[in-house]
Amino acid sequence: DENKRQRLLDAHKAAAEFYAHHLFRSAEGVVARRFLDDRGFAGSHAEHFGLGYAPPGWENLVGHLRRKGFSDQELVEGGLASQGRRGAYDRFRNRVLWPIREVTGEVVGFGARKLNPDEDGPKYLNSPESPIFHKGRILYGLDLAKRHISREGKAIVVEGYTDVMACHLAGENTAIATCGTSFGEDHVKILRRMLLGRSNQGGKVVFTFDGDKAGQKAAARAFSEEHAFSSETYVAIQPDGLDPGDLWLQQGARSITDLVENAVPMYEFKIKDVIDNYDLETPESRMAALEAAAPVVASIRNEGVRRGWGKNLDRWIGLMDEGYVLQRVNQH
Ligand code: CTP
Ligand code: MN
Ligand code: MN
Ligand code: MN
Ligand code: MN
Repeated sequence: DENKRQRLLDAHKAAAEFYAHHLFRSAEGVVARRFLDDRGFAGSHAEHFGLGYAPPGWENLVGHLRRKGFSDQELVEGGLASQGRRGAYDRFRNRVLWPIREVTGEVVGFGARKLNPDEDGPKYLNSPESPIFHKGRILYGLDLAKRHISREGKAIVVEGYTDVMACHLAGENTAIATCGTSFGEDHVKILRRMLLGRSNQGGKVVFTFDGDKAGQKAAARAFSEEHAFSSETYVAIQPDGLDPGDLWLQQGARSITDLVENAVPMYEFKIKDVIDNYDLETPESRMAALEAAAPVVASIRNEGVRRGWGKNLDRWIGLMDEGYVLQRVNQH
C-alpha cells in the first residue's frame, strides 16, 4: 500500500545518503574514490550522479537504518538487506553504488560494482525486484535525461551505468541504460511517450552496445523491439569494441560525440552485417548474399520503408536489379 511504499522510498533515500557519506567522507571510501578516479570520474562527477560506497562488513547499513527506525523486514523487502539466520545483513558490501532513480528523482534501487575482479560475487549486483523497483520498467539516468529527450526528440540507449555517466559528461545527455536486464517492451513504451512529446514524428533512438557476447545479445533483443518505436533507429558502432565508459577514459569526450554522430541506421547496420560475409565478386556470391539478407529486409513492416531498404540492398551487393531483389525479398 501507499504507506509501505513511502517507507521503502524513505529507507532508500537514507541508504543513498549513507553510501554517499562513505564514499566522500570516510577513510574506507578511499578505495572506491580511487577506483572511480582511475576510470576518469572525478569527485564532482561522482557527486552529480549521487554515487556511493558500501563499506565491507555485514551490518553497516542495517545498523544505521535500524537506528533510524526501519525494521529488518522493511530492509529485506526493499532489497537493501538479505535475511540471514541471525537477522538481516547488508546486501551490498565493499562495492561502488549507483543509485537508480525514478523520473521523479526518488531512489528505488542500486546497481553495485565490485572493486576488484578477485572478489566474490558477480561484477554487478543489482537490487532485486521489490514493491518500488521493477527492472523491466526502469531506465537508469532517465531522471537526468528526460527533458533532453523530449526537447531533442532523441534518446541514446547504452548498456551500463558507467556508459550513461560518460555520455552525459561528454554532453550527450539523452543517454539512458537498462539496469541489468534486456531492453524490453515497457522500456520502449516509456521512451516512445517522451519522444512523441515533441512532434508527431517518432524521434530518433540511437543504440550502442558492447562488442562482446552480452552486447550482441542485447542488440538482438533491442532490435526485435524496434518496430514498436515508430522512431528512426540507429546503431552506434565502436570499431575497437570499446564501450562509452572506456571511450571516456581512453579517448575523451570527443570520441563519444563522434560515436553518436556516426551512428548508422539500424537496417543499414543489420543488412551490411550480413553481406559483409560475402566477397560479392561473382554472381554466385551476390546471389548468396541476397538470399542471406532478404529476410532482414522482409522483416520490415512498412511497405515503403521495406522497398527503400530493398533498393539499398541491391546497390550494396552490386546486382543492379531492384525488381529482382524486391521479388526475392517478398518471397520471405
Ligand atoms: N550487468 C549486471 N550484472 C553483471 C554484469 C553486467 O547487471 N554481472 C549489467 C550492469 O548494469 C552493467 C551492464 O550490464 O552496467 C553492462 O555490463 P558490462 O559491459 O559488463 O559492464 P560495464 O557497464 O561496462 O562496467 P565496467 O566498465 O565497470 O566493467
Ligand atoms: Mn541537451
Ligand atoms: Mn559488456
Ligand atoms: Mn560495458
Ligand atoms: Mn565498461
